[in-house]
Amino acid sequence: MIQSFNKINKVNGTLSFLVDKSISHRALLISSLAEGKSVIKNLSESDDVRSTIKCLNGLGIESSFKNNIYTISGRGFKGYRKPARQLDAGNSGTVARLLSGILAVQNFESVITGDASLSSRPMKRIIEPLNQMGAIIESNNGKIPLKIFPSEKLQSIKYQLPVASAQVKSAILFAGLHLEEQTSVIESTPTRNHTENLLGLSTQRVGTKIEFFVSKNDYPEAKAYFIPGDISSAMFFIVLTLLTKNSELVIKDVSLNQTRTECLKLLKRMGGNIQIEEKGSSNNEVYGDLLVKSSELSNVRIEKEIIPLIIDEIPILTIAGIFAEGIFELRGAAELRVKESDRIKAICLNLLKLGLDVVEFDDGFSVSGKIKQDSEPFKSFGDHRIAMAFSILTSLLIDGGKVEGFESVSVSNPDFLKQLKSISS
Ligand code: S3P
Repeated sequence: MIQSFNKINKVNGTLSFLVDKSISHRALLISSLAEGKSVIKNLSESDDVRSTIKCLNGLGIESSFKNNIYTISGRGFKGYRKPARQLDAGNSGTVARLLSGILAVQNFESVITGDASLSSRPMKRIIEPLNQMGAIIESNNGKIPLKIFPSEKLQSIKYQLPVASAQVKSAILFAGLHLEEQTSVIESTPTRNHTENLLGLSTQRVGTKIEFFVSKNDYPEAKAYFIPGDISSAMFFIVLTLLTKNSELVIKDVSLNQTRTECLKLLKRMGGNIQIEEKGSSNNEVYGDLLVKSSELSNVRIEKEIIPLIIDEIPILTIAGIFAEGIFELRGAAELRVKESDRIKAICLNLLKLGLDVVEFDDGFSVSGKIKQDSEPFKSFGDHRIAMAFSILTSLLIDGGKVEGFESVSVSNPDFLKQLKSISS
């Protein structure tokens, strides 16, 4: 589907409920493990979160939805039913990887599949540590489908993450949650910490590294969750507001988790006028309101160490970068090549359509020059974040523009267009 956009001249209004996908997945998985009814207020209605719900239904987990409250009946320790069919994770790497950690320690056989994009994404990164724990997993050359067999020889491990990935960390923690002995995961570069927060796990700093501990003692109980807004989804509207004259936007109840707000800090360093007000927390997840105003931006150095903390926001940060003073350069971001699309390629190919000077590296790219408007549509490459980033870009061009494959936005935010219309003129 091709979506057209006219130039947006002004942004004004308030947005809320751009619900966080990462926290939604984890609240569902943890609730499914706990014995009895958990209630989740404000669950994400994205396609990805629907995939988690479908997988859990396949494992015998019942749930219902009423008045923005999702009630889920967990089946307790190793209480999942053997699935009658393959479990379809759709487009979601988070579901495929986190659920693998849980299924690796169950007493039945299961298979995880997904769509074409997910079928090209690396799974060795979770298979290897889970194998070390004694799990038996067959894959298609390190890709899905993953066939997971019951294992009688499961053991805890101490694992140093070779790749900065919250999904790998979480897969190991979810498996370790089922073992008597303590499992620990060490990361040298911080990644999002929602699994640790929602399970209330203990952590320890070891020099510049962080170690997370888990065992059956941390097994969850049924409880209530409030899911804050998704900073990654909010970023599209934040960047639009910063780059549009005489504009002001309030975003309510958005996650202010420190492992997710590095993108805001970066925009502030670039000169972005963003005020942050912390309001509360639910299950260790802090949230609050943002006030964003039009700003003049300049590019700054993006340190490699913060890349894992801004990984999902890079497509939209690039749009901020091409309108900012100076050259936008990103290095140390090779992980972008194995996201929902090869995001380095997707961004570079789209930026070339604007006549910008683009240099592609293995682990990033640089962009400079002046935009020359072209009428050719931008491509989403079937990737929701590329679709939304380039929708914002077209909304900033004098003649507007078009985005091909726009429908992929529903993977994380089915309300994107409605929200965009509600705040712009
Ligand atoms: C996620 C972690 C990140 C991120 C993804 C969601 C999560 O992936 O890109 O969109 O919820 O744990 P990696 O852990 O593979 O970097």
